[in-house]
Amino acid sequence: MISGGTTGIGLASAKAFVARGAKVVVAARNSARGVQAEQELIRLGGEAAFHRCDVTDPASVKDLVAFVVDRFGRLDHAVNSAAYDSQPCAAHEVPCEEAGKAIAVDVLGVFHCMKYEIEAMLRHSGGTIVNVSSVNGLSGAPTAAVYSAAKHAVIGLTRSTAKEYVGRGIRINAVCPGATETPRRERRTAHLTAQERRDHQERLSQAIPIGRLARAEEIADAILWLSSPTSSYVVGHSLVVDGGLHA
Ligand SMILES: NC(=O)c1ccc[n+]([C@@H]2O[C@H](COP(=O)([O-])OP(=O)(O)OC[C@H]3O[C@@H](n4cnc5c(N)ncnc54)[C@H](O)[C@@H]3O)[C@@H](O)[C@H]2O)c1
Repeated sequence: MISGGTTGIGLASAKAFVARGAKVVVAARNSARGVQAEQELIRLGGEAAFHRCDVTDPASVKDLVAFVVDRFGRLDHAVNSAAYDSQPCAAHEVPCEEAGKAIAVDVLGVFHCMKYEIEAMLRHSGGTIVNVSSVNGLSGAPTAAVYSAAKHAVIGLTRSTAKEYVGRGIRINAVCPGATETPRRERRTAHLTAQERRDHQERLSQAIPIGRLARAEEIADAILWLSSPTSSYVVGHSLVVDGGLHA
C-alpha cells in the first residue's frame, strides 16, 4: 500500500513493487489521477488498484487499510509518501493556516497511516513500513521551516515505532531523498519562464556533488530495498539518497 502513490516517488515505488510481482494499492485524494495511475500499473502487468484516501482523515485511512486487506488478504508492505504541497516562504511570512495544513498531511497523515498499517500487520504476519522523509528532515532548510520540522517529525515517528514493533515482526525505516524530479518540483518552478527554469535546474544541479537531481526511480529503488528481506537487519534507519549533498 502506497499513500501518495499516484504520482512522483510514490508512483515510481508502485511500479518498482509491481515489477517484482507485488499486488499494489495506491492511494491519494485525486480520483482522476488515481484511476490513471491504476491503469498505468495494470498495463505494466501488475495487479493494482487505486483507492481514494485523504491521509489527514483517520476514518479515510482506516477505510483504505480495510480495502487493502479485503482485496488482497493482508498488508505486507506500506510506503507513506503523501505530503502537502508547501511553497518556499520565509518562516515569519508563512500563513498559520498553511502551517497547520502542512503538519496535518506531513505529520498526522503519516501517523494515521502507520497506526492502521501497524494494526493490520499485527493481525497478520508482520511486514515493513517505509516513511518518506527528506534530507530536510535531517538538517535545517531556509524558506522551508515547517516542511523541515514535519520531515524531522517523520523521522521521530519512524525511530520510535521501529523500536516498538521490530520485536513483533514489523520493520520500519525512512528514506530521505534529496532534490528529485517529480511533479511536485515542476509545480514549484511553474511560475518561471522556460529559460529561468533551465537556469534554476542548472544551479541546483551544480550544488549537488553528483551533478544532477535524482530520478524518482532512484528513490523507489531505495524504498524497495528497505521493504525487502535483503535489508533484514536495518531498523529505524533514515536512508539518505541525495547524490552526495549531505556527505
Ligand atoms: N521531489 C522532491 O524533491 C522530494 C525531496 C525530498 C522528499 N520528498 C518527499 O517525497 C514524497 C513524495 O513527493 P513527490 O515529490 O513524489 O511529490 P508528489 O506531489 O508527486 O506526490 C505527493 C502525493 O501526495 C498526495 N497527497 C497530498 N496530500 C494528500 C492527502 N491529504 N491525502 C492523500 N494523498 C495526498 C498527492 O496527491 C500526491 O500523489 C513527499 O513526502 C515529499 O515530501 C520529495
